[in-house]
Amino acid sequence: MPDNKSLIVAPSILSADFAHMGRDTEYIKQAGADWVHVDVMDGSFVPPITFGAQMVEALRPFSPLPFDVHLMIDHPETQIDNFAKAGADLITFHIEACTHAHRLLQYIKSLGKKAGISIVPSTPIEAISELLCEVDLVLVMSVNPGYGGQKMIPQTLKKIALLDKIRKEQGFGYQISIDGGVNLQTIGDTAASGVDIVVAGSAFYGLSDAAARTAFVQNLKNA
Ligand code: DX5
Ligand code: ZN
Repeated sequence: MPDNKSLIVAPSILSADFAHMGRDTEYIKQAGADWVHVDVMDGSFVPPITFGAQMVEALRPFSPLPFDVHLMIDHPETQIDNFAKAGADLITFHIEACTHAHRLLQYIKSLGKKAGISIVPSTPIEAISELLCEVDLVLVMSVNPGYGGQKMIPQTLKKIALLDKIRKEQGFGYQISIDGGVNLQTIGDTAASGVDIVVAGSAFYGLSDAAARTAFVQNLKNA
């Protein structure tokens, strides 16, 4: 992260109350956070099924913030148009789920959306080295995808530090996001890694009131 710039905080609605999604999406801006992180799961790339583009369309009126859609799905190329039309601002898919990732990144950008690539904890950054000149966002998963509330895998922070070094050396413009296990205990090491965006699900939605959520977001930003 460029020096003296505060982190972008992206609460994940995966941990919201599914019976009150509109209200819980509003919590994000109310707390002073920046992006709405939307975890899309298909029951194939990861075991659970969450929601699809219709959820983005339904929630769009509840927040003016950017919708940061994280596709944990096989065949992501089949869903890009749907999420773009539904109101996604950033669309991130997994390298492990896509052969023609370069083409897909270009396609997402051709729709006027920011294009992101994600890697699971077992994937080295070499797997995306040929895409770094093309991507707007690299989302480093710091837990194995599929579930909120897991413990951060600390080795994944080394990948973030390397991605930060590479962009400085090569002059690339991508932002780096971390997803999984971000909380007040892990934010210190996380912020030091060079990351720009922190996704937080259970740590944000586990708080009981607006004041606690606002304080939590401020603590992440000031880390
Ligand atoms: C996991 C999702 C994450 C998850 C993070 O598959 O991609 O966004 O919601 O949840 P926490 O912050 O609870 O680890
Ligand atoms: Zn996510």
